[in-house]
Amino acid sequence: MTTSGTKIIEARGVSKRFDDVVALHGCDLEVQEGECLGLLGPNGAGKSTFIGCLYGVVERTGGELSVFGFDPAKNARAIKARIGIVPQENALDEALTVFENMQLYARFVGVPRQTAAQRIDELLTHMALEHKRDATIKSLSGGMKRRLAFVRALLVDPELLILDEPTTGLDPTVRHLIWERVIGYRDEGKTVLVTTHYMHEAEVLCNRIVILDNGRVISMGSPRELIDEYAPGFVGYFPLETERRLRAHLASDWTTFEQGRQFCIRTPNFEDLTELQQVTGITAVQLRPASLEDVYLKLTGHGLDENE
Ligand SMILES: Nc1ncnc2c1ncn2[C@@H]1O[C@H](COP(=O)(O)OP(=O)(O)OP(=O)(O)O)[C@@H](O)[C@H]1O
Ligand SMILES: [Mg+2]
Repeated sequence: MTTSGTKIIEARGVSKRFDDVVALHGCDLEVQEGECLGLLGPNGAGKSTFIGCLYGVVERTGGELSVFGFDPAKNARAIKARIGIVPQENALDEALTVFENMQLYARFVGVPRQTAAQRIDELLTHMALEHKRDATIKSLSGGMKRRLAFVRALLVDPELLILDEPTTGLDPTVRHLIWERVIGYRDEGKTVLVTTHYMHEAEVLCNRIVILDNGRVISMGSPRELIDEYAPGFVGYFPLETERRLRAHLASDWTTFEQGRQFCIRTPNFEDLTELQQVTGITAVQLRPASLEDVYLKLTGHGLDENE
């Protein structure tokens, strides 16, 4: 994919302190026009806080930030008209219907009344929700509410889409619909910033990844670059009870780790794993190329309490 080199988002040393919690410790990152950037990191890493700083709902306590060349702390209005946000929580008015919710939001963001109704109907169809136009929010399923949050984000015809965990809790069919739509926006030249805990989702959607941990950027690159740097090769998953027998055959450039009651071995070549099976007579539960998930676990694989 090509990017024009224009920086849509530029953050330099962005910090945020909530009383005694430091959520962001001087983050530097950029989002270029036309790219889909994945912001990954454990629960509590600071992803939603960073997103809040981008459109002025969270007031940063340090650093420089610009979105379309404007500082969100001073000029949130100019930015809001150009970005579509799917926040982590849907924040829809449960008492109103689907159409009324969208109409209310269209008015709030200044979409002219004459064009709003038509645009809402088009977007409901785009998100496969046209049959729910007059249903109340409380009668919708979780996946329908999530799709409606996309409709709301698209009402302003945004140049920048910010998606905070867009597919959490969704069934695979809805997830694929959302991926298709996001890839469509990306291919139209829109810029996308997405957070997710699904590493496969990040690989499907993003051309570049930033990994945030404890409020700090700890790594960035394309999915391929990160895999090649931190977790190259192939991974074999073996039953945990075979660990002792397998350990007798490990080479020095192989890496081992335990995951979900399985003993895992990462090797530079696929043949290393097939030969290991032959020599030991132990069949792997799964053999696969190393993925972004391996990178993520390697870089952020500390105790759960460290981000809480
Ligand atoms: N309004 C707030 N008041 C106080 N602390 C907050 C507030 N919002 C966030 N925090 C704290 O800031 C840190 C970062 O939270 P944030 O929601 O940005 O994480 P996150 O990366 O989005 O996590 P998740 O993956 O769980 O959504 C956490 O320690 C959180 O408890
Ligand atoms: Mg969050």
